[in-house]
Amino acid sequence: MTHLLSTGDLTRDEAVRILDTAEELLSVASRPIKKLPTLRGRTVVNLFFEDSTRTRISFEAAAKRLSADVLNFSAKGSSTSKGEGLKDTALTLQAMGADAVVVRHHHSGAPHRLAHARWTSGAVINAGDGTHEHPTQALLDAFTLRRHLVTEPAGTAGRGADLAGRRVTIVGDVLHSRVARSNALLLHTLGAHVTLVAPPTLLPVGVDTWPVETSYDLDSAVEGSDAVMMLRVQRERMNASYFPSEREYSRRFGLDTARMNRMPGHAIVMHPGPMNRGMEISADVADSDRSVIVEQVTNGVAVRMAVLYLLLGGAPDPADDPTTEGGEVA
Ligand code: NCD
Repeated sequence: MTHLLSTGDLTRDEAVRILDTAEELLSVASRPIKKLPTLRGRTVVNLFFEDSTRTRISFEAAAKRLSADVLNFSAKGSSTSKGEGLKDTALTLQAMGADAVVVRHHHSGAPHRLAHARWTSGAVINAGDGTHEHPTQALLDAFTLRRHLVTEPAGTAGRGADLAGRRVTIVGDVLHSRVARSNALLLHTLGAHVTLVAPPTLLPVGVDTWPVETSYDLDSAVEGSDAVMMLRVQRERMNASYFPSEREYSRRFGLDTARMNRMPGHAIVMHPGPMNRGMEISADVADSDRSVIVEQVTNGVAVRMAVLYLLLGGAPDPADDPTTEGGEVA
């Protein structure tokens, strides 16, 4: 693994390795000193062209807990929003010696461009590109699902390795959601059955090629689900009316207590955040004991630590270091 651009690039074994590594790293968060020396001397750049709170902070916490140096570059509002802007920024970061670039961009494909044009020699991690993908969110979701739904001893951390046979229902604004696509691909790789429930206007063209089932009937979908993942209605990406009214949307595609009670007893409720309380999820459900939404945030740090560790792991190559003997000084 050189970069993390799409969950579609991960084999089952690679995905399981990330989850198992995250399992080991999760314990660091409960220690009095939440730090490991693993990435000392490495530089991680957070390059965010789009607003973000939890994802940026989560990557920052992950990098710092591994002792990396973190540079935060917030490029939102910059007038150069396309190719050249990204290229010049990347070259600047390269000149600063970035070992990893965590990039969030409003254009789908921007992280791929950064990685494939070789504007940086560092590892590129996609932290959300347009409406395309958000691989670390899907990995933290898979990690959370595995902790709740799989208990039989297997895998290096004593957990079942994958999500074989588990049923996950993803509900809402699939059209604008990079979380949905990354999850559909990853959960399929891990053996889960994924059902998307959305109004027809909020399903993307080509969804028939995704490894999922689709349905318009949330009541029946929740009944067979081990987990129900609600998506935010992304009004900032909507330039037209996709449903008659908020009330109508909530009634058909929102998760309230009555609907949650139709889920099997062991089933959990997820949401990547930020939530529109009262729209796709009621406040009661968001705060209920079946909701793992806060835990998703905690798990996000461990999963991002695992990704950084596996992409950058170990000490820098001494041949690159002019301060050690044998390094190239000229
Ligand atoms: C998601 C995103 O930005 O794609 N949020 C996140 O990363 N925590 C989902 C969303 O914005 O609804």
